[in-house]
Amino acid sequence: MNPQDHWNAIYRLKGERHVSWFEPAATVSIEMVEASGIVPETSVLDVGAGESRFVDGLLAMGLRRITLLDISAEALERTRTRLGPAGRTVTWIDADVTGDWTADPVDIWHDRAVFHFLTDAADRARYMRRLNELVKPHGTAIIATFAPDGPEICSGLPVMRHSPDTLGSEIGPDFALVDNRKHSHVTPNHVTQSFQYSRFRRLR
Ligand SMILES: C[S@@+](CC[C@H](N)C(=O)[O-])C[C@H]1O[C@@H](n2cnc3c(N)ncnc32)[C@H](O)[C@@H]1O
Repeated sequence: MNPQDHWNAIYRLKGERHVSWFEPAATVSIEMVEASGIVPETSVLDVGAGESRFVDGLLAMGLRRITLLDISAEALERTRTRLGPAGRTVTWIDADVTGDWTADPVDIWHDRAVFHFLTDAADRARYMRRLNELVKPHGTAIIATFAPDGPEICSGLPVMRHSPDTLGSEIGPDFALVDNRKHSHVTPNHVTQSFQYSRFRRLR
């Protein structure tokens, strides 16, 4: 099954609260967005947004320049429906983050639990090329993945676990790590998963 069909099938079969990555509020992500320094015009791109409530947190902070990208049109549609009129200012991109898609440059690139699915070096390089193309000078990249002591599989797919160091060498020399947090995510089935959140600042 290709990745698009895989993810669409998951979102078709499972409710929002029945996926292991569900969190009622994207607390760590929102704290990192706040720490990066925001103004009402700050633009945020969430790659692999799924049905995450991260967007709800951004809207509650008064941000309106929000783009949600996902390989699953099903996930985006469900988020669009859930948000209703509150989502009218959101831009939606149905695409593979490693593929051909365009977006305006952004102040903040956010990814929770997507980069770790890229087990192929060429896919990771394409992802980081897009990130380097789109994050504005002095902008921010927040990348949350399974930590080195986290799960090796998610959603039936193998993952590659990361530390701030491995992410730092993938993101390249234009970015500096400014914050890192370990986080224990508790799934709806009460399993604890070890995540790491890394926040990078673009130097130039
Ligand atoms: C584990 S879920 C995380 C969803 C969301 N970020 C969250 O924290 O709730 C992974 C998401 O990434 C999407 N995804 C997986 N591979 C992708 C890719 N190559 N490009 C874009 N989205 C992808 C999936 O459809 C799914 O919504």
